[in-house]
Amino acid sequence: MSTVNLDEILEFAVEIAHQAGKAITEGSETRFKNAAGFDEKKNTADLVTETDQNTEKLVYEAIQKRYPDHQFIGEESWAAGKQAKLTDAPTWIIDPIDGTTNFVKGFPFVCISIGFVYKSEPVIGVIFAPFLGYLYAAKKGGGAYMTSPLHPERRSLPLVQPPPLPSFKQALIAFEWGSDRSKEVMAQKTRTFERLTGDPASGVEGGEMALGVRSIGSAALNFAHVASGSLDVYWEIGCWAWDVCAGMVIAKEAGCAVVGSKAHAQNAVSSSWPPVVSPEVLTGRKYLVVRAIGDKEGKVDADAQKRIIQTFYQAVDEWDPK
Ligand code: IPD
Ligand code: CA
Repeated sequence: MSTVNLDEILEFAVEIAHQAGKAITEGSETRFKNAAGFDEKKNTADLVTETDQNTEKLVYEAIQKRYPDHQFIGEESWAAGKQAKLTDAPTWIIDPIDGTTNFVKGFPFVCISIGFVYKSEPVIGVIFAPFLGYLYAAKKGGGAYMTSPLHPERRSLPLVQPPPLPSFKQALIAFEWGSDRSKEVMAQKTRTFERLTGDPASGVEGGEMALGVRSIGSAALNFAHVASGSLDVYWEIGCWAWDVCAGMVIAKEAGCAVVGSKAHAQNAVSSSWPPVVSPEVLTGRKYLVVRAIGDKEGKVDADAQKRIIQTFYQAVDEWDPK
């Protein structure tokens, strides 16, 4: 297997994230050129635009030129039938636009998500949200950082010394409505949402009364916000490796715990901590991430992360995505 220079790859990934960001903002100017400006994929809640495809092409060609022996998995190539299997080879996993609905509407939570996997483990992650100017980046073992127009200097993630998180009553949670709106899935989702947010004193059985809920429409930016500490927890069933690969590296490097399905989480909480991101978790389409938690003295509180994961999964009705 070819060896890789992770510092060089990170620098290159940041460079192409900026190029992709430019393509996305330019694409936004012309997105209404053709009638609706988007096409439907699986259904009316799953969109693609010319800018998704052009941006993926730009990123793919840049990677091919610089690293011709690396593998590539991208959302739009996958949709077009190029469904490469994840192997041990150095592999780039890209979503050219995460938050396509936001892009179509002009809601600014839109990003390019660039992940790099080496020996089956995500090791580089770069997320750039061009309308916000937020860049998040991480290398395995090297920590995670963020830059923004307000703070152009690199700031380590999480942005503040991790505070305690005694229960869901203090938690700002992200979950998404996704594109599977079938009766069965909606029933599981709404039951889960009710338990996480509902007031047990008013009779919501198992209600955790979470502080608040956000659905910003981008899995990658949800991961990034948990990494920075602006969100406490993010959970979703149904996204793909390209939505989460970069975010997983950034989150892990920021001290978050990343787990997969309920079964995986159950296993993880009784194994060595923090759990590694295996290929099964990366491609498993069920994701839960909890921010770094400190105790009262500010020391890392792994038990608190485990408790939050266990309580969260008690509230979840899980299903298998189609
Ligand atoms: C979607 C977004 C959305 C999430 C979906 C993803 P896309 O990605 O991340 O927040 O709910 O699961 O597919 O379609 O905008 O690339
Ligand atoms: Ca996408």
